[in-house]
Amino acid sequence: MPTLDSYDAIPYESVPITETHVEGLAALGRLFGVPTADPQRCRVLELGCAEGGNLIPMAFYLPGSRFVGLDLSKGQIAAGQRLVDALGLANVALLHRDVMHPTYDLGPFDYIIAHGLYSWVPAPVQARVLEICARQLAPGGIAYVSWNALPGWHTRAVMRDMLLAHTRGLTDPAERLQAAYQFLEEYGPGLAEEAGDLAGILAAEVAYLRQAPPSYLYHEYLVETNTPQLFGDFVAQAARQGLRYVADVDLYTLMPHTLGRAGQAAVAGIKDRLARIQAMDFLRARRFHRSLLTHAATPVMDAPDLDAFRGLAFHADLASEAEIDLGSTERQAFTTPTGARYAVAHPLTKAALMWLASNYPSSVDYAGLYTAAAELVAEYADADTAGDEPAFLQELLDLVAWGAVKPAVTAQAYSVAPDERPRAHALARAQIALGADCVASIRHTAVHLDAPAARLLGLLDGRHDLEALTQAMQPLLPVEYAQAAREGCERMLWTFARQGLLTGTVESPG
Ligand SMILES: C[S@@+](CC[C@H](N)C(=O)[O-])C[C@H]1O[C@@H](n2cnc3c(N)ncnc32)[C@H](O)[C@@H]1O
Repeated sequence: MPTLDSYDAIPYESVPITETHVEGLAALGRLFGVPTADPQRCRVLELGCAEGGNLIPMAFYLPGSRFVGLDLSKGQIAAGQRLVDALGLANVALLHRDVMHPTYDLGPFDYIIAHGLYSWVPAPVQARVLEICARQLAPGGIAYVSWNALPGWHTRAVMRDMLLAHTRGLTDPAERLQAAYQFLEEYGPGLAEEAGDLAGILAAEVAYLRQAPPSYLYHEYLVETNTPQLFGDFVAQAARQGLRYVADVDLYTLMPHTLGRAGQAAVAGIKDRLARIQAMDFLRARRFHRSLLTHAATPVMDAPDLDAFRGLAFHADLASEAEIDLGSTERQAFTTPTGARYAVAHPLTKAALMWLASNYPSSVDYAGLYTAAAELVAEYADADTAGDEPAFLQELLDLVAWGAVKPAVTAQAYSVAPDERPRAHALARAQIALGADCVASIRHTAVHLDAPAARLLGLLDGRHDLEALTQAMQPLLPVEYAQAAREGCERMLWTFARQGLLTGTVESPG
C-alpha cells in the first residue's frame, strides 16, 4: 500500500489551518517567554504543505514575510503552483521535495509548521522532521507540530482497525475509499446495536466519518502509518533532537483550573509541568495535540506571562444569543460560527466580547480592548466594575485558552461594511477562478461557498454596484429566490465583508 503515492491519487483537502497562522504562533510563544519574530516580517517553512492551501493565503496576506513549502506529492505541489502563478506571488516557494532530502540550502526560519505529518510518517521521517526544526529554527523560533495522542486515539483505532481489515487486499486508493464508505453504510447501524460497551463510541465514529472530508478518512484511517503516542514520549523525542516544549495551541489543555473539581484534585500534587500535562491528557483521554516547540536553550515559562499577555492583540468571530446586559453579572452566552458556546459573567468581559463581535475581523490590542470595554461598562454599570482590570485579564485569558478569542501580536483594523462597488481580494477571486469551493478568509479560516456565493464573489472586481450584481445573479438563482435576489446579494456581501474577503481600508492599530 504505497502511502506516499496515495497523496497524488487522493489529494488532501488543502485549506487554511487557522491555528498555524504565524500571528497566533508569535503570540503564544511570547506568552511563554519566547522572543518570537514579527509575523509581518518573518520566514516560514511548512513541511508537508500539500497544495499550499495553508501557506499561500498566509503569503498573500503577509507580503513582508517569506514562505517555503515542501511536499512529496508532485501533483499537489503543481496544483499549488497554479494558484501562486495566478496571483504572481513572489514571497512563496512550493518545492516538490522529500523532507528526508537536505533542506539546509533553504536557510533558517522563524516558524516551521508541520500539520498532519508527524504521526503519519515512519519513525525515521518523524526524527527528521524534529531535526529540521532543531537545526533550522532561528533564535526565538517556534515550530508547530500536530500529532495523534494516546490514550484518546485508542478509541479511533477501533474503527481504523476494522476499516483496514475490511479493505485488506484492495490496492487502488479510490476502491479502498469506496469500500470504507460501504462499510460505514452497511455496518454503522449494526455496530450501534451490537457493540456492547463500545456501541456509543462506534456510533459517534461512524457519524463523524460520514461527515468528514473523504481525503481525511483516507489519510487518517486507511493509510499504512498512523502512530499515536503519549505526550511524555513526544516531548522526549523532541528533547533528543534539541527541542523544548513550549505549549499547545489549545491552551486550556495546560491549565489545571479548566478541569472539573475531581480532576483538579488529581493533578494538584504534580509539581513538574510536563508530568502534569501528561496527567491532564489521561484525565481528558486526549487524542490530538497541536504542540509548539523551540530550541532547548530557550527558557520557557511554566505559566502564561501576564505582562506578555497585556502586550498582545485579540480578535473573535462571535455573536451573542440575546441582548447583553452590562448591568448584571448573570452569565450570558456568545457563540462561534461552528456553534461553540462561551458563557461569561463579568460586565467587562461581556463588553469586550461585544466589541470584538461587532468589529470582527479587526483585532485590537489589550489596552484598547480594556478601554473600550471599560467605557461601555461605566455607562451601563458602575465605575468600580469598570475598573476591575484583574478580573478582566483573567477572564480574557480563559477565553483565549478555550479558543473563543484568538491572540495575535499585530492590532489591525479592517472595514466591516462592503463598499458601494465591492472588490474581493485577488486571492479569493483566483481561488474561485481555479475552481475552488472554499476560499481563505483574512483571519485564515476556510470559507466554504455554495455555487451562487462563489459566483457572486467571483463578480466582485470593484466595477459593479449592488444593482448590477443583483441583475447578474438573478438568472442563476432558483425561481423561488429570484424575487429576493437583492436582499440575498446584500446579505452575502456583508458575510464576505465580515470574513475580510473584500478589500477595504486597513486603518492604523486601534
Ligand atoms: C495529511 S497531509 C497534510 C497536509 C497539510 N499539512 C494539511 O494539514 O492540510 C500530509 C502531507 O505530507 C506529505 N508528506 C508525507 N511524507 C512526506 C515526506 N517524507 N516529505 C514531504 N512531504 C511528505 C504528503 O504528501 C501530504 O501532502
